[in-house]
Amino acid sequence: MSTLPTAAIIGAGSSGIAAAKALHERGLMFDCFEASDRVGGNWVFENKNGVSAAYRDLHINTSRDRMQFSDFPMPRSLPDFPHHTQIAAYFDAYVDHFGFRDRISFETSIERAEQRADGSWRLTDAQGKGRVYDMLVVANGHHWDTRWPEPAFPGADRFEGIQMHAHRYRDNAFLAGKDVVVLGMGNSAMDIAVESSYVAATTQLAARRGAWIVPKYLFGKPLDQVNTLPKIPHWLSGRISEAIVRLHTGRPERYGLPRPDHHFGAAHPTVSGRILDRITHGAIAPRPNIAQLGPDWVQFADGTQVHADVVIYCTGYRITFPFFDEDFLAAPGNRIELYRGAFVPGNASLAFVGLLQPLGAIMPLAEVQGRWIAEYLRGEYHLPSPRAMEAHLRREGARRRRRYVASQRHTIQVDFDTYLYDLRRERRRGAARAAAAGRALPVPARAGRVGEGAPA
Ligand SMILES: Cc1cc2nc3c(=O)[nH]c(=O)nc-3n(C[C@H](O)[C@H](O)[C@H](O)COP(=O)(O)OP(=O)(O)OC[C@H]3O[C@@H](n4cnc5c(N)ncnc54)[C@H](O)[C@@H]3O)c2cc1C
Ligand SMILES: NC(=O)c1ccc[n+]([C@@H]2O[C@H](COP(=O)([O-])OP(=O)(O)OC[C@H]3O[C@@H](n4cnc5c(N)ncnc54)[C@H](OP(=O)(O)O)[C@@H]3O)[C@@H](O)[C@H]2O)c1
Repeated sequence: MSTLPTAAIIGAGSSGIAAAKALHERGLMFDCFEASDRVGGNWVFENKNGVSAAYRDLHINTSRDRMQFSDFPMPRSLPDFPHHTQIAAYFDAYVDHFGFRDRISFETSIERAEQRADGSWRLTDAQGKGRVYDMLVVANGHHWDTRWPEPAFPGADRFEGIQMHAHRYRDNAFLAGKDVVVLGMGNSAMDIAVESSYVAATTQLAARRGAWIVPKYLFGKPLDQVNTLPKIPHWLSGRISEAIVRLHTGRPERYGLPRPDHHFGAAHPTVSGRILDRITHGAIAPRPNIAQLGPDWVQFADGTQVHADVVIYCTGYRITFPFFDEDFLAAPGNRIELYRGAFVPGNASLAFVGLLQPLGAIMPLAEVQGRWIAEYLRGEYHLPSPRAMEAHLRREGARRRRRYVASQRHTIQVDFDTYLYDLRRERRRGAARAAAAGRALPVPARAGRVGEGAPA
């Protein structure tokens, strides 16, 4: 019987498999539960779990070398920005390469996760089967629960055409010959407006706020491989990047897009090598925000009005955990207080993986979080005190609010390099704390409570 605590991981998307691999490698006992019949989450087109946002022509917008796991490079034969099928195949290969597929229970949706008085967890799946673990690792993703405009635009209930969220978009076939309005300035809006522009009669791109649109390549390199140094203050690197983007493409207003109300780096990057091209071809018309809808028209904030058959809301996602009681833990307005994006101060046996919105790819950050959690479960890393974690959270929260545009899309925003750098240092500090405490286990191992045979 292991003297180490047991763990359950919810989700086998790229974050869940990164955590599973780390626990597997460090000899920890765990089960990973996945609602779908395969790994890869969002990257599985028409995923059986019903919540993948992948569209037929989706390519990653963080480059291959930024997205890959550190010890499992993506094949060099892949392009810089692979197609979703190639990304899904890569995650599949990762699981087989490191040999932990047998630790994943497929087609097992966790419906309830309840923490017991002693800190351990009782999980109940959709079939009503219960299991108990010492630690819970949540990797259920944060780009699947759709956020629609709230409140809905006046007249939305009178509109007789199609209103849909970007999450349901698969390809542009149904837009052929239609008058289409796309709302948003994030990456979904860019991709969908471009796809629409090739087949629709008209495509309007409406936005309540401008964005700095960056191309996929700069100086002949994928944009996210142009080096950033964690030591350079973000405002300085932001100004430098803004100057480069302005030299490269000019100001967004030059294309009729709204003027950004923020400097570069104060919003999640909008990456598109194609949108400006389509605007300058007259195939996409930039508009301000939607003001109201009629039965077959949309009026914008500047009073202009167009005929519309389809409105596609590319308005982002909500962070939700349907398996928790809302009173236990929720993220209203996408706000959630997690120490370095992973731990709840005061709750030793709960951690999150991949609940970050990086300026860069999520996967390498989830990979490091997985290693961090494995060290923690083995007693090789100790967290700071809850008070110290709360103080850190307050500082980080204030810093994030100063830095980013106030929007629900920036509540878990981090800088890729800075996050990795800071976590490396924190893991060293926590290792010293653990050594001083004789490597006591922060999560006690409760022998006999391993998975299926566990008492209810
Ligand atoms: C259109 C689109 C494009 C994107 N492009 C990029 C990109 O280029 N680069 C990038 O870094 N990020 C990108 N993202 C962000 C995306 O969130 C990550 O790429 C990645 O999918 C995150 O992986 P994840 O494992 O955290 O979440 P997911 O991929 O959402 O996986 C979560 C998994 O958990 C499972 N699950 C959830 N709840 C339960 C439950 N209760 N029981 C059992 N299983 C459960 C789901 O079935 C799913 O398999 C994109 C997002 C979208 C929507
Ligand atoms: N090719 C790719 O790899 C690809 C493609 C698509 C998406 N993604 C990723 O998927 C994630 C989600 O992207 P997303 O574009 O779907 O969502 P997002 O980044 O959250 O962007 C949502 C957009 O909708 C706007 N918005 C929200 N509520 C609104 C309202 N009520 N009225 C008007 N506008 C509103 C936001 O404006 P504010 O800024 O004012 O809030 C923002 O412009 C991101 O990580 C993104 O990088 C990647």
